[in-house]
Amino acid sequence: MLTAVTGATGFLGLHLVRELLARRRRLLLLARPHPLPAPVRVERFLRTCGADAEELRVARTHLQTREIALEDGFLGLGREGFQRLADRIDVLWHCAGDISFGSSLQQARRTNVDGTRHVLRLLTAGERAPLLCHVSTVAVAGARPDGVVEEKELDASFGFNTPYEQSKFEAEGLVHRWVSEYGGRALVFRPSCLATHRPAHPDRPHHPLQVLARQVGAMLRRHPELTGTPGPMALPVPAGAGTNVLPVEHAAYAMVEAAARHTGDRPRIHHVVNRRNLPMTEVIAALGDHFGVPVDTSWRSSRAPQDMRRTLPAYAYWLSFSRTYEGAGLARLGLACPARPVVDRDYVAAALH
Ligand SMILES: NC(=O)c1ccc[n+]([C@@H]2O[C@H](COP(=O)([O-])OP(=O)(O)OC[C@H]3O[C@@H](n4cnc5c(N)ncnc54)[C@H](OP(=O)(O)O)[C@@H]3O)[C@@H](O)[C@H]2O)c1
Repeated sequence: MLTAVTGATGFLGLHLVRELLARRRRLLLLARPHPLPAPVRVERFLRTCGADAEELRVARTHLQTREIALEDGFLGLGREGFQRLADRIDVLWHCAGDISFGSSLQQARRTNVDGTRHVLRLLTAGERAPLLCHVSTVAVAGARPDGVVEEKELDASFGFNTPYEQSKFEAEGLVHRWVSEYGGRALVFRPSCLATHRPAHPDRPHHPLQVLARQVGAMLRRHPELTGTPGPMALPVPAGAGTNVLPVEHAAYAMVEAAARHTGDRPRIHHVVNRRNLPMTEVIAALGDHFGVPVDTSWRSSRAPQDMRRTLPAYAYWLSFSRTYEGAGLARLGLACPARPVVDRDYVAAALH
């Protein structure tokens, strides 16, 4: 049985690969060209996790790689190579994605929408009726600010704050159409914001909280007036605002376990989320601690109240979200996020180091 993985060298993909290898899956990494071959990057990552000799041996004996060009209709393999690949695959984890908030809609669509279309084409061309494990995101809920987002929902009526959200929404739509029109077999996973409290390492890609911190750091350097006056910086946050952050180790475990237990042809959509929303005040407090900048998040704060909203517009909307996510699918399988580690201010502080 052959499991193909796109995006295996990314933050989530590396954790998925580790979980799949733990179950002794034979993996074919579909990776774009890179100076370091994908298996080398996987091995380096496993070492950062403290993998023992046996885990490294399994990785060396269970991994193959095929270079692909996701944006090409035949994945850069030509018609025959494409067909040969299609006929070998039993399961495909589609985890590759352009997650940058800075990409234009056109750029984000090239990887996220066209890439998904080409992967679906590959699965349709194959003779083995493969199972697709599609990595979507809770961000497909777009600009919806509040309420409980249900797993069955895929609703564009709130619009989108970023090209990332819109392109991931469109990509997930393609998967649902593939299921209904071609009888494709699919599991859709929608993780929330993934992080880890393990120390940063050059052989592990950054997670979104680290990316946010890098951007906040750049903003503080560009706008010294924000911190140059006495007293805390004002960043008012509405009561109840929160986000959902989940340890990546649990997310990868739950996704791989849910796929292993999946039977039958019925498609499933799983929110992969923390059962507790993280109050936005705790995220901001942890960022403030990280940069040594005291922050006042109360609505009473009067100095420069909209600063971050103006200077980091890609994140501004996120400060006032209070929406939560149904997590019934994984809960039914006994795979809901455990209560520990608690994702709170201390967790975020550790994740930023
Ligand atoms: N991180 C999160 O919090 C989070 C939350 C929800 C959903 N997700 C979803 O999870 C998936 C992975 O996210 P991530 O955080 O692991 O991102 P990441 O660290 O940026 O990794 C992205 C992966 O996709 C590959 N990739 C990107 N563009 C590609 C292209 N044009 N052709 C082939 N491969 C390409 C990258 O390859 P290289 O190594 O060569 O760059 C890398 O392996 C995405 O679909 C994202 O939407 C992530």
